[in-house]
Amino acid sequence: MDMGLRNKTALVTGSTKGIGKAIALELAREGVHVLINGRNKEEVERTVEEIKFNFPETNPQNAASDLVYPQQRKALFEKFPNIDILVNNMGIYEIMQYEDINDEIWETYFRTNVLAANGLCKFYMPKMLESGFGRILFIASEEALMPSGQMPQYCMTKTMLLSLAKSLSKLTAGTDITVNTIMPGPTLSENVHQIIDSVYQDETLTFAQKEKLFMDTNLPQSEIQRFIRPAEIGRLAAFVSSPYAAAFRGSPIRMDGGMIPTIF
Ligand SMILES: NC(=O)c1ccc[n+]([C@@H]2O[C@H](COP(=O)([O-])OP(=O)(O)OC[C@H]3O[C@@H](n4cnc5c(N)ncnc54)[C@H](OP(=O)(O)O)[C@@H]3O)[C@@H](O)[C@H]2O)c1
Repeated sequence: MDMGLRNKTALVTGSTKGIGKAIALELAREGVHVLINGRNKEEVERTVEEIKFNFPETNPQNAASDLVYPQQRKALFEKFPNIDILVNNMGIYEIMQYEDINDEIWETYFRTNVLAANGLCKFYMPKMLESGFGRILFIASEEALMPSGQMPQYCMTKTMLLSLAKSLSKLTAGTDITVNTIMPGPTLSENVHQIIDSVYQDETLTFAQKEKLFMDTNLPQSEIQRFIRPAEIGRLAAFVSSPYAAAFRGSPIRMDGGMIPTIF
């Protein structure tokens, strides 16, 4: 299916690895010019080159920046004043004991996972309203609806994104600018791959066997009994970014492998 995205421009935050990179690749497959972001300039450049090589009809560009800092966001706005699609994917996560989470850590999570994304929306949303088309996507998590208790500092920020998306959706009512959230379940980013390899160091096990053991032990509630592949989230994000998805409005869209046990 041609998603009607050819020649649009998209900024995907945190797109040198994992889910963000997969979203950038799937958008490029649809002919989108992607702006690749991360803090490590070499990794950004490598990703730009990889996309240019695989999708030569597109013009991927280097948007390296630490988005937590307003000054760096400002420099990015000067370089890229107009985009059609904003995918707020970048986010930090770590298992932590509630007793160990001090105010500084709560603030770091809020600044990184919420304020950085909000800063981008504040700049780009009015531009999208002027141009008449726009897509804003937040990448939250199944933990936004179903906190496990293992990372309260993270879950708080992901629940906030659901609320922010709905507020912005109200503020763009009557236009072709949409604001939605995708909630991935456990997804096989490079990071997660390494964690599984470090949990099972037995070299006679294949990765598929390790994955199965991990699911049995740690995520028995998953209905797919495997990690979601980043490309699956990437494909969904490309669809939600497309003109065909105009009726998704402030929606929390679940691609959680069946982790959340409820109907809604
Ligand atoms: N993996 C999962 O199972 C899962 C499940 C549900 C939701 N999610 C959500 O999906 C999103 C992506 O997760 P992931 O596992 O794919 O992440 P990841 O593999 O850790 O990738 C992180 C990306 O973000 C960049 N980054 C980190 N801090 C940054 C900053 N301050 N400014 C700009 N870029 C920054 C990294 O590059 P640099 O290090 O070079 O900056 C990298 O490109 C996150 O929001 C996460 O909460 C993940």
